[in-house]
Parts: sequence; C-alpha cells; structure tokens
Amino acid sequence: MTVLDTKVVRLTTDEATGYTMFQLGSFTFRRDDYFAHISWPKGNHIIEIDRFLRATVRDIGWGFFYGWIFFDDVFGTTNHYGTVDVFAGSYDRGCKEAGIDFLETFHAEAVAEAFQAIAQDWISVGYDPLNAPLETGSPIGSKGPERTDPLLRAFIAADRMLGLPGDKPVRTEAAGFPINRAFADLDYDSPDIECAAGFEGQLHAINLFDHIARSDVTWNPSISAVAGGNICCVTSEEHMLPVIHGNDRNEWFIQLTDEIHWNIADKNTGAPRGRIVMKAGDVCAMPADIRHQGFAPKRAMLMVMENGTPGLEARYASGELKPYPVDFG
Ligand code: PHB
Ligand code: FE
Repeated sequence: MTVLDTKVVRLTTDEATGYTMFQLGSFTFRRDDYFAHISWPKGNHIIEIDRFLRATVRDIGWGFFYGWIFFDDVFGTTNHYGTVDVFAGSYDRGCKEAGIDFLETFHAEAVAEAFQAIAQDWISVGYDPLNAPLETGSPIGSKGPERTDPLLRAFIAADRMLGLPGDKPVRTEAAGFPINRAFADLDYDSPDIECAAGFEGQLHAINLFDHIARSDVTWNPSISAVAGGNICCVTSEEHMLPVIHGNDRNEWFIQLTDEIHWNIADKNTGAPRGRIVMKAGDVCAMPADIRHQGFAPKRAMLMVMENGTPGLEARYASGELKPYPVDFG
C-alpha cells in the first residue's frame, strides 16, 4: 500500500459563489449552490451539498470511525488507523465494472486537514450540519460569512460517572441544553442515590434519558463511556444517518426510545442484505461484513456499543473471527 505524502491544496475561488476549490492527491473538490463535485483521474461524481457536508463533519469528528464511511454509494473513506483511503467507486459494482473506480491512501491527518479546510470554507453562518434538518438553516446558495465557532464535535470520553466532581458537566437547562421538543413527553426523575458511609463522591447516578434528551446534535455520538476497548455511545437520532457505515468489526445497537429503520447491504458491492425496524427495547448486532444506514422518522435515542480493541479489524478481515457475534443453533 502506497501512502501519499501530500497535503490539501487550495485551488481557485469561484467569483460567482465565493467558494474555494480544493485538491487532495488526485481528487479535487468543488462546490456550487447545490452540489459538491468530486473529480479524480478516471471519473467524477456529484453529491447534494447538505449530504456532503453532514458526512464531512462527522467523518472528521469521528476520526474516520471504524472501517468504511460512505458519503453515498460511491465516495468515502476507509480508516486504517493512521492512514486513510479516500475512494470513489471502489465498493460500487457499477463503477468497478465501468473501470472508473479510484482509491488513494493518505496519512490520516492530511485527510482530516483537507476535510476541515473544505468544511470551513463551504459552511456559512446559520447552517450546522450536526443539527437535525428541522433545527438548522440551509447550506444552499452562495457563500455567506464563515462560522467562527467549532464545526466539529469529537467523541468526548467520560473519565468518571457523569456528574461526579472533576468529570464532564451534565447537560443542563442552565448550560444552554433544553430538553428537545421530541422528548417533551418523557419522565425525567432523578435516581435516588444511597451511598454507604466512606464512599461519598465516588458513587453517582444520572437519568440517562435526561442527558440524551438535551443533546443538540443528531447522529453524532458525543459524550461516551469508555472502559478499556468497550465504547458505549448514546445518541439522539433524527432524520437519516448522513453516512453509510461499513463495519470492520461487530457493533451493537440498543434502541432506547422510538424507532429507527436500517438499510443493510453487502459491504463490498452494496447489494441489499436486509432491512430492520428497531423499536424501543430492541437490540441488534451489525455484522463485520456489511454497510448500514439508519433512518429515524422521529427523534429517537440509541445506544451504540463498539469494540475498540486495536487490531480487531485484521482478525475479521482474515476470517479468523466470524463476521457475526453469536451462533444461535
Ligand atoms: C453507526 O454507524 O453505527 C452510527 C453512527 C452514528 C450514530 C449511530 C450509529 O449516531
Ligand atoms: Fe455503524
């Protein structure tokens, strides 16, 4: 695998729209009022701009996540934990058959820097791609003032139980996190905490619904519990997961409220493999050899469990581990 030692280059700025064109390796990225245009030596592709920006900020914020992030069926990234592939058509049967598929491998920081530069230039005040579409403005049209607040929200690992002294603050009304309109009908009782003498300050509990209901972003695991390789992310999901995630390991979903519909397809070809409608209380494992995309008709709470053990991707890729976690039978 050749890793290109190259960085993002700013090309020309379009006078009519105000947006700058960028280059990373052999890929160029250009936007107009409605679309992102991606070109590479053998082909080119067009993605609706909202879709492109919602995927871009998540891909960087998640550090390229586990395995594949498809912005759509054609364009995306693969995380090799240190290096990242940027691909076009490499996992799309039609593009491969037409011979227009293309892939280049970069240092992860170079891709992050490129996507960050694109996001900064292409996002204007009034639009936040991390918000649900009903809760933000539109990205279409020519360039407005650039945002000066952070565009990304990385995973934040809690060090201790949320709310214990010294850890991340619990989201509260006073801190500017109201209960989302979609969760106004839930109960938010606080747990009773009866701590044995001598353990004060070490035992705590929160109402997790209260925490998730105050999330101002969607499809973006934010404050996460990490214990060794076990990563537990709770999220607030509305509209569609703006990327299609291709797993390089199993991951588990626990549906906490409402419902999410998932499209599941073969990771390499995109051929459909299944549809799941998860309702509150349902649990499912996404296998290591698929890609999936979720759709939440109404804001829903989801718990995602990832196994962050380094090297796991190679054990699944070699077939040492089965692509699914449990044999029933
Ligand atoms: C996933 O790809 O599994 C995923 C990503 C973001 C979420 C939920 C699930 O908010
Ligand atoms: Fe996933």
